[in-house]
Amino acid sequence: MPRNPKVPVSQPLFAEPVFAEGIPTPDPSQFTVTPDDSADYTSQVNALLYTEVVSFPRAGGEAGDLFSLERAWGPNGPAVIQSINSAQSVTFHMVGDSGATAQSTFPAMIKVSDAVTSDFHSASAANRPSFLFHLGDLVYNFGESAYYYDEFYEPYRNYPAPIFAIPGNHDSFVLPNTPKGSEPLAIFQRNFCSATPAVTVEAGSLHRTSITQPGVYFALDAPFVRIIGLFSNALEDPGVISSQTSISTAKSNRTTKRKKTDNTTRGTPTWPVVPDYQLAFLTAQLESIKNNDYRGAVILAVHHPPFIYSPPGGGSGGGTHYSSPFMLADIDTVCKNVGVYPHAIISGHAHNYQRYTRKLQFNGRSYSVPFVVCGDGGHSVDTLVKPSFGKQTAEPGNDINVSYMDTGAIVQSTGLTLNQHDDQDCGFLRVQATATALTITFNPVPKTGTAPKPDTVTVNLAAHTVG
Ligand SMILES: [Fe+2]
Repeated sequence: MPRNPKVPVSQPLFAEPVFAEGIPTPDPSQFTVTPDDSADYTSQVNALLYTEVVSFPRAGGEAGDLFSLERAWGPNGPAVIQSINSAQSVTFHMVGDSGATAQSTFPAMIKVSDAVTSDFHSASAANRPSFLFHLGDLVYNFGESAYYYDEFYEPYRNYPAPIFAIPGNHDSFVLPNTPKGSEPLAIFQRNFCSATPAVTVEAGSLHRTSITQPGVYFALDAPFVRIIGLFSNALEDPGVISSQTSISTAKSNRTTKRKKTDNTTRGTPTWPVVPDYQLAFLTAQLESIKNNDYRGAVILAVHHPPFIYSPPGGGSGGGTHYSSPFMLADIDTVCKNVGVYPHAIISGHAHNYQRYTRKLQFNGRSYSVPFVVCGDGGHSVDTLVKPSFGKQTAEPGNDINVSYMDTGAIVQSTGLTLNQHDDQDCGFLRVQATATALTITFNPVPKTGTAPKPDTVTVNLAAHTVG
């Protein structure tokens, strides 16, 4: 019998989490509520997309607290942790930018969610993912409650594991005249930051319960890996994780694509609405890693990518989105102050796949850090470059030197390379961490035909080198 998303199911017994339908159900072929925000893209809103950030509450608990995978799995947590430890590795998925907004892209959204779900079910026990970490932009265009069912719950109805998430700009930008309590971040928090697992109104007739993350930013702790998730706010560009009060770089002398005039002076916040909770949070998390001599893989996940491809000489001919150098300055500043740098930084937002290696001199050693963009989870696929005023820009190759994109001076960068990209296919990441290595694999999901070869990078955890 077809589901009726307007008929909610009963709450779980004993507030235990539920992740999938008991009996897998066939794919839907259309929306139950067709998302149509095209009329909202007025010139006024288009301008606000580059100027209006949002505030958000401080995450629950202390800044150094960890949200454990074991807790998220509820009564099955000990068994899941035991199986991970027995396999001596943890595997998980990462997906970004997944929601479809038109019937024409509905099949791509379903195809990716089916591929991710199928990858879960077809994996051997030792390689079976333990969770999915969503990189943001789940529900387009503006995180409306009415669209959660079709864009999130229904596509992932048969994924039988926790789905954690950091909000993207489309999960947080507030349209003018949005009623109090209906802001997208409030809806996101109802579904991902609830006090106890519950079936939300957004889940409709499906059984997946809400996640109990402590906030829109949080640190997920699993055996062999720790994911520090940051909320990079509501702008189309750039990503913002703080008020940027303390960044003392000479912004006015630097060229960016952002539309907001950047006349920051020392001590004046660029984004006074944005609280600085995440700077203290990131500091506390990295200090904990340092002070406890944590040896596992450390991933920083943030929706807006620090690096998005732009051609040499500037943005002309670039893609749809742009790098976030001041957000990276915040991250680099905290990392430098603490003396800990993540093994990889993974983002969504740009609707394609881009893998960079940033080389650093850090703590007196040479680090190679993958910066991965995977924002092609079903919403759309955009090319890395686009024509400008009718003039074509050459598609970049792979393994090319793009050090001109790394303008930061806070940590000592010794080179930035675009190793690989895919701007034709959708796709998702499969990530595996062991006691010694972190392996990130991009799995393309083509619209038609055979999938191209996956792209993989492996980080040696102790040496911070890639292979
Ligand atoms: Fe985005």
